[in-house]
Amino acid sequence: MKKIVPIIAIAAIVLMSMASAETTPKYVGSGKCKMCHKTEKQGKQFLLWEESSHAKAYLTLASEEAKTVATKLGIENAQTSDQCLSCHVTAFSVADSLKEKTFSIEEGVGCEACHGPGSDYKKMSIMKNRDKAIGAGLWLPDENTCVKCHNKDSPTYKEFKYEERLAEIAHPRPPEAAK
Ligand code: HEC
Ligand code: HEC
Ligand code: HEC
Ligand code: HEC
Repeated sequence: MKKIVPIIAIAAIVLMSMASAETTPKYVGSGKCKMCHKTEKQGKQFLLWEESSHAKAYLTLASEEAKTVATKLGIENAQTSDQCLSCHVTAFSVADSLKEKTFSIEEGVGCEACHGPGSDYKKMSIMKNRDKAIGAGLWLPDENTCVKCHNKDSPTYKEFKYEERLAEIAHPRPPEAAK
């Protein structure tokens, strides 16, 4: 009996970790949202995001302005410094094992920075059902999501007024969008 108990315990731990490896959603990259979120009819969220400064947040770190900001802080290369990447890319603090090959930090602040890792909710059958989508990892973001990055730790901080800033990045679904 004494020998069996640890074996069962180990088997249980192995099974549990296998199950959680399957259910921990992964970051897939904004490109995976494009096919369903680019048409006028659906509200072209992808195109609106692509034109926004969020999509350029990583590129920005290579600009002259970024170099000036970085140099003052003794940072040589803003695009490789954790002190800058922490807010200028998606899923900075997330383990690489939870990022699919289709994900790249070059997309800057992507859909999943605000809506959560998409591997499990991006399927049509899941997306169509809000509760299932949330269960599969979809976040419905609010002001708290924004102030993780829009705060005074930013060396170029500008006062953040949620309603105004939200209007600048608005990407609603038209009421007539297909359900
Ligand atoms: C296979 C098509 C498809 C893909 C891929 C897809 N979506 Fe969707 N998504 C939909 C549809 C359809 C809806 C509308 C659901 C409804 O209201 O019936 C939707 C709704 C949403 C909503 C609104 C949820 C709500 O209830 O307010 C968000 C946010 C969203 N998608 C984000 C994403 C993100 C981020 C990705 C990429 C990781 C993505 N979607 C990939 C089809 C898709
Ligand atoms: C992962 C970090 C992060 C999150 C989360 C985030 N942002 Fe941003 N946001 C940035 C960065 C970085 C920039 C600057 C990008 C650039 O200029 O290259 C930016 C730029 C912006 C801009 C453009 C400002 C300008 O002066 O050009 C607006 C508007 C904005 N964000 C609104 C929001 C809102 C609203 C939310 C929450 C719903 C949000 N952001 C969430 C990092 C973030
Ligand atoms: C705490 C999060 C955060 C960190 C850390 C951060 N940034 Fe930003 N950065 C932002 C946000 C948010 C914006 C958008 C400005 C705004 O509207 O508040 C931004 C904008 C910028 C801009 C565009 C100028 C502007 O005013 O819009 C540059 C350049 C920049 N950051 C460089 C850097 C560099 C270089 C580092 C590293 C030394 C860095 N950032 C670290 C959040 C951050
Ligand atoms: C900077 C954060 C941020 C990014 C990046 C972002 N979203 Fe959103 N998204 C939001 C917020 C906040 C809302 C809710 C807006 C509201 O409350 O009016 C939202 C709402 C939505 C909705 C529901 C709209 C509705 O009217 O029901 C869809 C669909 C959506 N986003 C898809 C996307 C897709 C696809 C991408 C990438 C191409 C993306 N979002 C990128 C913050 C973001």
